[in-house]
Amino acid sequence: PVKRQTPPSIRARKGGEPIVCLTAYDAPTAGLLDPHCDVLLVGDSLGMVVHGLPSTIGVTMEMMILHGQAVMRRARQALVVIDMPFGSYEKSPQQAFENASRILAETGAQAVKLETGAFAAETVRFLTERGVPVMGHVGLRPQASLADGGFKAKGRSQTERDRVLEEARLTDEAGAFSIVIEGTSQDLAEEISAAVSAPTIGIGASAKCDGQVLVVNDMLGQSDWVPRFVKKYADLRGLTDEAARRFAEEVRARSFPGPEHVYHVKAG
Ligand code: KIV
Ligand code: NA
Repeated sequence: PVKRQTPPSIRARKGGEPIVCLTAYDAPTAGLLDPHCDVLLVGDSLGMVVHGLPSTIGVTMEMMILHGQAVMRRARQALVVIDMPFGSYEKSPQQAFENASRILAETGAQAVKLETGAFAAETVRFLTERGVPVMGHVGLRPQASLADGGFKAKGRSQTERDRVLEEARLTDEAGAFSIVIEGTSQDLAEEISAAVSAPTIGIGASAKCDGQVLVVNDMLGQSDWVPRFVKKYADLRGLTDEAARRFAEEVRARSFPGPEHVYHVKAG
């Protein structure tokens, strides 16, 4: 059996070889990504990229557990981290522990991720002290999009920079084994990465992080809109459109199925 990455093995990568992370939501994709990645993140972005929701606000525990189970069936060596959805951890450390332990127990994944505003420091400590490995998430926090009035990059004012740096410090001191930095300027990402002991994993936060993550549908060219920080490594929209167009054409022309696609069953 292959040795799987663990929260401590990822934590040990601070300042070393960059951590490679992609999101995954289903078994076949997890199987394809696993050999290339250190971490597979079952992100609550699945609400938007898989379920068509306008934001991550409507994502439920049941959705995260179902997709987490699918990813765990094919992930072999990558650490699997599962997002805690909006409403599942903010009320109290106790609520967070109940839902985090349920996610770990029902999926077999080894860590959870929380969007860690200042309020969450106490919760991160409560979880880590009780055996739940936690990945933090600072900067642009999609679950705060209602309060922020949209998805807004962070670090435009000094007050905002100070606040995000403080949130990262609190997350680090509370025991997170790594911290996602989303949607910040390069300066701020660099400052955070230098200030915290946990490795940082950037998304739209420059190369000045200890690793990088992208939403898999975005980097495969499957999304109809992507933020400017996304690099498209494939064009799955184009491939899917072309495949469906040819299928439709051949069905209408009765050229599919051909003789090679038909079962030849001997009588008797
Ligand atoms: O939900 C998600 O996919 C995430 C990553 C973008 C970090 O939180
Ligand atoms: Na997320």
